[in-house]
Amino acid sequence: MPLVQRVRPFVQSGLDKVFDVAATRVRRSAMGYRRSNRMAFTRLQGHELMLADAARVNAYAEAVPRVVTRTDTVLDLGTGTGVLVFLAARAGARLVHAVDHSSIIDVARAVAESNGLDNVVFHQTHSGSLSLDGPVDVLLHEQMGHGLFEERMVSNIADLRDRLLRPGGSIVPSRFEFFVEPVSLRAPYVVPYIWQQRAGGVDYSVLRERARAQPPDHRRLEVTAFQVDRPLTTPVPALLVDLHTASPATLPQVVEFERPVEAAGVVHGLCVWFRAFLDAHATIDTTPFGSPDSTPTSWRNPFLRLEEPITVTAGDRLHVRLEAGTLESLDTWDWTVRLIRP
Ligand SMILES: C[S@@+](CC[C@H](N)C(=O)[O-])C[C@H]1O[C@@H](n2cnc3c(N)ncnc32)[C@H](O)[C@@H]1O
Repeated sequence: MPLVQRVRPFVQSGLDKVFDVAATRVRRSAMGYRRSNRMAFTRLQGHELMLADAARVNAYAEAVPRVVTRTDTVLDLGTGTGVLVFLAARAGARLVHAVDHSSIIDVARAVAESNGLDNVVFHQTHSGSLSLDGPVDVLLHEQMGHGLFEERMVSNIADLRDRLLRPGGSIVPSRFEFFVEPVSLRAPYVVPYIWQQRAGGVDYSVLRERARAQPPDHRRLEVTAFQVDRPLTTPVPALLVDLHTASPATLPQVVEFERPVEAAGVVHGLCVWFRAFLDAHATIDTTPFGSPDSTPTSWRNPFLRLEEPITVTAGDRLHVRLEAGTLESLDTWDWTVRLIRP
C-alpha cells in the first residue's frame, strides 16, 4: 500500500479504505501520486503520531541546531504541522521557507502565529512548482517512507537541490543506508499465501492463480519489530544514498548480494529498513532489531514475502535479488531469494 503505507501505522483503518481504492486507480500516475499524497497528509491524526515519535523528533532536534546558523535561509520541504520549521527558527535561521502541498500547512501557519514566529514564509505548493527569489543554505525534510524511497524523496530533493540550494549548502538528512535482509518472522505473524492456507480445515489451493493476479502490493506485508524474529545473516546496507548527488536516474534498478547464513532458521521473506544520518551524530534507525530499550519509531517495515519459506543452516549462503522499475514505487519491486548450499 505505497500510499497508505506512508500514512504510517496509525491511520490505517479509515484512510486505508478510501486510499486503497484511489491508489489502485492512479498508482502509476505521477499526478495521481501527488494528489493522493497531498490528501493523505491533510488529516491531523497522522501528524499527531509522527510528532509523538520521540526518536524521530529528537534526532531532528539534536541535528538542526548543529547545522543551521544565524545567517541561514532554510527551506523545509513537507512542512506538515511545522515541527522542523520551529526547530530551524529556534536555531536562529534568518528566514525559513515552509513548503507543503497539503492544506495541513494552514495548521503550521496557525501554530507559528500563536507561537510568535515571524520569520517564516508559507508556500502551499508542490515542491516542483516552488520558485524563490534566491538560493537557500539548508534543505530540511522528512520524506522517508517505510521503504525509504516511496515518498519520492530522491526526486523531490534532487529537484530542489539542483534549482534552489546554494552550492555547498546542507541537506538534512542527506545520507542513508538501505537494508533488505532475509529474516524469520515470529510464528503468529507468518501469513502464508491464501492458496497455502488450511484455515478451518478448508483447502484454498484453488485460489493460487487468483492470488497471483492480485495487485502487486498483495505480495508485501508490513511488520513491526516485535513480529520479526531475527536476522539470519549479519545485516549489511544493500545500498548507500547521498542526497547531495543522488537523482532518480542514479537509483539502481537491481540490488543484489550474497551473504553467509549465520544461524539455522527459516527465511520467510525480506525485511526492509533504513538508517538516516541527519548529521555526524544524529540518526533515525528503523531496524526491527533494535535493543529492547531503544525507542521504536513510527515507521513500519515493508516485508517482502516469499512463496515458499527457505530452511537454512549455518554455512549456507543466500543470494538476494531485488529488482525495481523504480525504487521510488514499491509496487514495481520484485524479489527472489536463492539458497546456495555448499
Ligand atoms: C512525513 S510528513 C512530515 C511533516 C513534518 N515535516 C514533520 O516532520 O512532522 C511529509 C509532508 O510532506 C508533504 N509533501 C510530500 N511531498 C511533497 C512535495 N513534493 N511538495 C510539498 N509537500 C510535500 C506532505 O503533504 C506531508 O505533509
